[in-house]
Amino acid sequence: MFKSLLIPIDGSRDSHTALKVACQLAAPVQGKLYLINVRDPYPQLHRGELISVEAAIKAASVDTAEKEGRALLDQALDTLPSFPGYNGEFDTIVKQGSPARVIVAEAERLGVDAIVMGSRGLGQFKGLMIGSVSHKVTHVANCRVICVHETPLQHAKKAVNEFRGFD
Ligand SMILES: Nc1ncnc2c1ncn2[C@@H]1O[C@H](COP(=O)(O)OP(=O)(O)OP(=O)(O)O)[C@@H](O)[C@H]1O
Ligand SMILES: [Mg+2]
Repeated sequence: MFKSLLIPIDGSRDSHTALKVACQLAAPVQGKLYLINVRDPYPQLHRGELISVEAAIKAASVDTAEKEGRALLDQALDTLPSFPGYNGEFDTIVKQGSPARVIVAEAERLGVDAIVMGSRGLGQFKGLMIGSVSHKVTHVANCRVICVHETPLQHAKKAVNEFRGFD
């Protein structure tokens, strides 16, 4: 039984799929869903890219981060009306920091039964089966971690198209 679940949302399709799966898992007991978006203030720097001082200051602004994070979580919630079986409670969390670390720490703080997240996110590098955030969370979290993607058929078609350079 999943009485509480943490769903990390980065705005990607897989993270929206994870939210729908979380609703299905929580539906039997109307468990509570915590949606979280983590704002990495220096993603370019973490990728070794140079950014201007202005861009760094803007990215690190708590107000900007909070606003962008809330918008992403609202968009994710907008995808839900097609899942009427779930009438439980939602909570939304926006934090700044390293996404994997914050997700694992929040899962522990909230004592959730599981984390339900996308296999892939918004990253450009598609060479691996799952992204770096999913990979880290899967290995480090103290609770169950469920990684989901679009239906296997869609996923396979996308992979073939990417391989052929159509995507
Ligand atoms: N900043 C974030 N805040 C909340 N959830 C996130 C964040 N980044 C990723 N996630 C979660 O992790 C899932 C997988 O994303 P991940 O970042 O691991 O893959 P990727 O973007 O394809 O690859 P990478 O970031 O390693 O280039 C997403 O679907 C989402 O559920
Ligand atoms: Mg990513």
